[in-house]
Amino acid sequence: MKATNEQDYIQLNLLKKDMTRFMLAYKFALDEMSTKINILEEEFQFIHEYNPIEHITTRLKTPESIVKKARRKNVELSLSSIKENMRDIAGIRINCSFNSDIYKLSDMIQKQQDVEVIEYKDYIHNPKPNGYRSLHMILQIPVFMSDRVEHVFVELQIRTIAMDFWASLEHKIFYKYNKYVPEKIVEELKEAAESANELDQKMEYLHKEINEIKQLGAGDATTLSDVKNEFNIPTKFLKMILENTDNSPTKV
Ligand code: GTP
Ligand code: MG
Repeated sequence: MKATNEQDYIQLNLLKKDMTRFMLAYKFALDEMSTKINILEEEFQFIHEYNPIEHITTRLKTPESIVKKARRKNVELSLSSIKENMRDIAGIRINCSFNSDIYKLSDMIQKQQDVEVIEYKDYIHNPKPNGYRSLHMILQIPVFMSDRVEHVFVELQIRTIAMDFWASLEHKIFYKYNKYVPEKIVEELKEAAESANELDQKMEYLHKEINEIKQLGAGDATTLSDVKNEFNIPTKFLKMILENTDNSPTKV
C-alpha cells in the first residue's frame, strides 16, 4: 500500500513537472509576441508620429479551462493532443485606434520570418451573424527552450476600441442570460454592432481628413479653428485626434 502511494506521488510529481513545462512554452510565446508587438508599436510611432495601439492584453488559459474545453471539443486529454488541437491556449488581443491600423499591424506581423500564419479569419469584412467584428489569426512561432525548439500556437485578435466595447458587453449579456439570449436582445445587439461600425467608419474618415490637413504643412494657413468650422468637430475632440493624446508606450 505504502509503495503504491509513493509511486502515485512520484507519478503525480512527474505529471506536474510536464504540465509546468508545457505551460511555460505558451508563456514564453506570449512574451515573444509581446516584444514583437512593442517593437512594431515604437517603430510605427517613430515613422508615422502616432501610436496605432490603444491597449494590449495577453492571457494564458488555465489548466482547468484547457481540460474543460478539451472535453467540450472532444480533444483527447494528452499533452500532445492538446498541443496540436487547442490553438488558443496563449492569446493576445490588440485594440487599435482605427480600422486601417488593424490591417497595417496584421501585415507587419505576418511578414515576420519566424511567424507562420496558420489561420486567418477576417470577421471585419465578414462579420459573424450576431454582428461580431475582429481580425483573428492563429500564429505559430518558434520558442527556443534549453534543450529544444517548440513551435507554439498563439491566437491573435486585433480589433478597434468600438469592436472591443461591443464584444465585451455582448459576452457579458450572453453569460447573464445563461447562453440563451431573447431574440429581441439579439436583434438589438446586432444593431448596436452596426452603430459601433458606423462610429469606426466616421473616426477613420476624420483620421484621414486630419492627416491630409496635417500634410499641408506648417506654412499653410489652416488653423485649428478653420478645421473646426469646416467639419463642425468639438475642439476637445479635434485636439485629441491631432495630438493623438495617449502616445505613452502600452504596457502588456
Ligand atoms: P473557439 O473554439 O471558441 O475558439 O471557436 P473558433 O475556433 O471557431 O473561434 P473564433 O475564431 O470564431 O473565436 C475565438 C474567440 O473569439 C472566442 O474565444 C472569443 O474570444 C472571440 N469571439 C468569437 N465570436 C465571438 C462573439 O460572437 N462574441 C464575443 N464577445 N466574442 C467572440
Ligand atoms: Mg479558437
